[in-house]
Amino acid sequence: MLERVPTGIPGFDELCGGGLLRDRSYLLSGPSGSGKTIFASQFIVNGIEKYNEPGIIIATEERPQHLREHLAVFGWELEKYEDENMLAIVDATSTKIGLPSDERYIDVRPFDVRSLLDQIITIQDEIEARRAVLDSTTSIGFTIGDPAKFRVELLKISTTMEILGLTSILTCEVVEGQSDAISRFGVENFVVEGTIVLYYSKLENTRVRAIEIFKMRGSNHSKKIHPFEITDKGIVVYSREEIF
Ligand SMILES: Nc1ncnc2c1ncn2[C@@H]1O[C@H](COP(=O)(O)OP(=O)(O)OP(=O)(O)O)[C@@H](O)[C@H]1O
Ligand SMILES: [Mg+2]
Repeated sequence: MLERVPTGIPGFDELCGGGLLRDRSYLLSGPSGSGKTIFASQFIVNGIEKYNEPGIIIATEERPQHLREHLAVFGWELEKYEDENMLAIVDATSTKIGLPSDERYIDVRPFDVRSLLDQIITIQDEIEARRAVLDSTTSIGFTIGDPAKFRVELLKISTTMEILGLTSILTCEVVEGQSDAISRFGVENFVVEGTIVLYYSKLENTRVRAIEIFKMRGSNHSKKIHPFEITDKGIVVYSREEIF
């Protein structure tokens, strides 16, 4: 029996047999503003609050201080978890854009997957995390450039996470309008055990949010597209409703 890691996101786990598979990596893709960062962070916060599992967030696009502030509106106190050694946030943003950083964990430049993995290994010695988020893979893809090389580097990242005992979510930005696109470079979904897609589509004069489990190895999952909302407590998936 494969062990499940509940995301704790209301409505989501029942779509996929109780949660993600332990020590596997998942891709979470969607256009800008679709809720990737909130979903991935909620997975980490629930791990800490509900399941006593420490987490790691590698932020490549958003500076950690902004992330802490944005997520505080949902009542998630990242700083407190960091102080308790339940959470580590890696600042992989500041040095990339040439800004100094006084964060505890800073990724070096030029970007190099090996040094990122060394950083994660160091953090593991300190907090023994069980969950990790890499937000996002897309900026790493642009740094590497070549899709074939990017695919190998992503495989290195996901495999290392698995070996380190981390159940992980890797986010991926897709371009709006390319409604069938599930990844940016066309390679990301091949290196993971599952792909979750977030939609943020125009329906008449409003936008609706929806979620689809596109692939999940080892799971009998919902094949439907379900609506979700971002509430003041985070994401809520309406697992009994469908969107066409
Ligand atoms: N407190 C809140 N209540 C409701 N909706 C919110 C709240 N905070 C943020 N949102 C919505 O969530 C969106 C941002 O979600 P998120 O940052 O997770 O998107 P993303 O997919 O990571 O985008 P990007 O690819 O640009 O990083 C905002 O544009 C807003 O619509
Ligand atoms: Mg984001």
